[in-house]
Amino acid sequence: MTYSFPIRPRRLRVSESIRSIVQENRLHPSDFVLPIFISDDDRVVEISSMPGVYRWPIDQLSNHIASCANMGIRAFALFPKISSDLKTTSGHEILNPKSLVYRAARSLKSLDSDIVLIADLALDPYTSHGQDGLLLENGYVGNDETVEVLAKASLICADAGFDWVAPSDMMDGRVAIIRKTLDQNSYLTTGIISYSAKFASSYYGPFRAAIDSSPEGQNVDKSTYQLNPANLEEAKRELRLDFEEGADMLMVKPAEPFLDIINYAKTNFDIPIAAYQVSGEYSRIMAADQLGWLDWEMCAHESLLSIKRAGATVIFSYFADKIASLL
Ligand code: PBG
Repeated sequence: MTYSFPIRPRRLRVSESIRSIVQENRLHPSDFVLPIFISDDDRVVEISSMPGVYRWPIDQLSNHIASCANMGIRAFALFPKISSDLKTTSGHEILNPKSLVYRAARSLKSLDSDIVLIADLALDPYTSHGQDGLLLENGYVGNDETVEVLAKASLICADAGFDWVAPSDMMDGRVAIIRKTLDQNSYLTTGIISYSAKFASSYYGPFRAAIDSSPEGQNVDKSTYQLNPANLEEAKRELRLDFEEGADMLMVKPAEPFLDIINYAKTNFDIPIAAYQVSGEYSRIMAADQLGWLDWEMCAHESLLSIKRAGATVIFSYFADKIASLL
C-alpha cells in the first residue's frame, strides 16, 4: 500500500548523483592549514602517538611542503621541538632570531614565497616547565610580562617571513599589543590569527609529546588561562575581545568537541573563523582505525565536514595532507 505523503525528503537522496547535487558543504584542499612539527634532528621521526605524523628536519621540510602545495594546500603552521638544553624557565630562546622555527621560515620562504606560513606564538616550546607564559614567584603564569615577550617575538616572526602570527597563549590583551607592535614596526600586512576560544582540553596530549612540552610526560595544568570546556558565555567574551583588539581571524580550539562555539563565532563576527582539529582528535580516530573499530578515512572526512558545516572557513588539521590527496 502507499500513503499520499505530499513531502518525501528521501526523494533528494535517491541516487549518488542527486545526493551530490544537493550537497551543501564540500572539503577543498585550500580549506586547510597543515600543522608541521620541526626539529634539529637529522632524520624524519614519526610521532608515536600520532601515526602518519612526523617531525621534520629543516632540510627535508621543503620537499614535504612542496608535495602538499601540489595537492592544493596553501598554508602551514610550524611547531618547533627544540632540544631540551635550550629550554629555560623564562623560555628566552623564543627571542633568538636564529632559533629553529625562524630558520625554518627563512629557508622555506626563500624557496617558495607563495606558501602561507603561520607561526604559533607561545612560550611552551621554549619553557622548561611547559607553561605558555612566564611564571611569577607564586607559580601563577604572569600575564603582562608574557604579553611583552610575545609582542617582541612577533617581530622576529614577521622578520623571518611568517605571514601570520597565531598567539595560542590565552593571555589577556595580547592581540592589541601584538598588533600595535607589528604596526609600529611597519609590519602592516602581517596578520593575526588569534586562538581566541582555546579550551583547557584533554586532547592536547599527543601534541605535547610531539614537541616535548610536558616535563616528564606530566599533564601541565593550563586552566588559569585556557577556557573551562563547560563555558559558552566566557568563550563568547574571549572571541569578542580578540575581534575588538584587531584579530584578522578568530580561532576555536579544539574543533569537533566545540562545534557550538564555532557556530557562534561564525554567526556573530564578520571575519573568517578558524578551527583547530587538535592532536587528540587526530589520534583517537587513528587509534580506533588501528584497532579495526573505525575507518580513519571516513571518520576524518566526516569530522572535517562537520567542522566546516558548523562555520569554520579555515581548518587546522593533521589530516590535511592525507585528506587533500583523496579529494
Ligand atoms: C601551545 C599549543 C598547544 C597546541 C597548539 N599550540 C598545546 C597546549 O596548549 O598545550 C595544541 C595542538 C594540538 O594538540 O594539536 N601553545
